[in-house]
Amino acid sequence: MMIGRRPTGGSGDSAIPAYRVNVAFTPPRDPSLMTDVIDVLLAHRSVRRFKDDPIPEEDLLRAVRAGQQAATSSNIQGYCAIRVTDPATRAALVPLTGGQAKVAESPLFLAICGDTRRHRLLAARDGGDYQPNLEGFMLAMIDATLFAQNMVIAFESMGYGTCYIGGLREDLPAVHEVLQTPEGVWPFFGLCVGRPAQEPRIRPRLETDAVIFDDHYPADEEILASIDGYDRVMHDWYRDNGIDTPDWSARIRRHFQEKHRTRNAAWYLGAGASFD
Ligand SMILES: Cc1cc2nc3c(=O)[nH]c(=O)nc-3n(C[C@H](O)[C@H](O)[C@H](O)COP(=O)(O)O)c2cc1C
Repeated sequence: MMIGRRPTGGSGDSAIPAYRVNVAFTPPRDPSLMTDVIDVLLAHRSVRRFKDDPIPEEDLLRAVRAGQQAATSSNIQGYCAIRVTDPATRAALVPLTGGQAKVAESPLFLAICGDTRRHRLLAARDGGDYQPNLEGFMLAMIDATLFAQNMVIAFESMGYGTCYIGGLREDLPAVHEVLQTPEGVWPFFGLCVGRPAQEPRIRPRLETDAVIFDDHYPADEEILASIDGYDRVMHDWYRDNGIDTPDWSARIRRHFQEKHRTRNAAWYLGAGASFD
């Protein structure tokens, strides 16, 4: 289904930002308003239970427009989102995403895909070559992620809760059947959106000095030291939130003890990707 095919000339529905053509950047009248963006970012927490309230089309299109305005590698715009509306299709996706009920229950579910289809169609139409390689795959993945994250920020700024669904990569052959993705369109992750029916606490992150370094990468001891402090923070956080789990470092160790989703490289290769 296509959405968003509406007049984009700037008049009409003021809730949906107009498609901008040759418009100069205008700073906000009050530069301190920019801090609101940072407040929205710092208030992020994934939401996994949603109210039933439907999401108005205007809000969706505002978020999509904001998503599209993310930077994109060489302006290739190598992404798309497939909105899954049919309840039966949503239900079919639950077991394919590792049994995540929110995929069926959230008012909005988007499958975020890398999309090189239009690039391939242009090449075919004009009789030119289309050369897939790892770089092309990475461009699509990076572009799709920036598109999605801009949408997340836009939704959260409108008071919605969101949750990414990496579980969409659990069974790509079946997901591909459901979404009918053609060659060159690669499901990367899902996104649930809706009005929150829960208020999860904000999950702390590593200290900033664990992720921003001056001039060169630090010694291993410094990296490990920064993790000790974070383990203590997360230990308290898990306890305060009634989550019975090993410390963060133990969880990470466990996570990478085995390979995950090992059939996916082959699936993406079969769907028109190349990792050369
Ligand atoms: C690419 C990606 C995939 C994710 N997949 C899932 C998922 O399948 N199910 C889920 O409940 N949360 C998923 N999450 C949410 C993360 O678990 C969550 O962002 C992380 O634990 C940090 O918590 P916070 O978002 O509340 O700060 C995903 C997040 C990302 C970025």
